[in-house]
Amino acid sequence: MSTLVIVGHPDLTTSRMSAALCAAARSVPGTSIRVLSDVSTDGRFDVHAEQQALTEASDIVLLYPTYWYSTPGQLKRWMDEVFTRGWAYGTGGAGALVGKTLRIVTTTGGAEDAYQPGRLHSFEYDAILAPLKATAHRLGMLWAEPLVIHAARDVTDEQLTGLEDDVRDLLDSSYQALSA
Ligand SMILES: Cc1cc2nc3c(=O)[nH]c(=O)nc-3n(C[C@H](O)[C@H](O)[C@H](O)COP(=O)(O)O)c2cc1C
Repeated sequence: MSTLVIVGHPDLTTSRMSAALCAAARSVPGTSIRVLSDVSTDGRFDVHAEQQALTEASDIVLLYPTYWYSTPGQLKRWMDEVFTRGWAYGTGGAGALVGKTLRIVTTTGGAEDAYQPGRLHSFEYDAILAPLKATAHRLGMLWAEPLVIHAARDVTDEQLTGLEDDVRDLLDSSYQALSA
């Protein structure tokens, strides 16, 4: 069993944040990475292959840039296609993802203090994660503390190096816990 990182950036070649965090994740033992833009054909997924990868993991991480207070469309489509009835839910028993953890690692353009009622983004960021939290709950997954990195444009190269370490530590601690 391992950690599976699903990378939902639509084009990593144009990414600073997701690309750096994805590269950091690659160096952690016991971690598999699926870059959705690499594993989709004409925007569609091999549902069986995606479900197989999820089955083999015990911790699922969704790594993506926040787009319009949500996941990028490709990641939403992945969830729509892969979390099927009869597999993830509606099985008459435990769904395939029951007991696995779901952790969100996301970056935003907006500053953290603008994510407040009455401010630019109207809601605290935690409220924006409600659909994903509800999905985890519906599928019997355990919600792990999200890592939300705000104000991506203001993150210095030095801070980004620190964030890469944070992601490595996060994934490494899952790995240590699994191996223990
Ligand atoms: C289509 C689009 C929608 C975006 N929507 C939001 C948003 O709703 N809230 C926000 O804080 N930032 C938003 N951003 C900014 C991105 O979150 C930010 O550019 C990204 O996290 C930077 O990561 P990257 O370097 O990996 O691309 C948006 C950017 C794009 C291109």
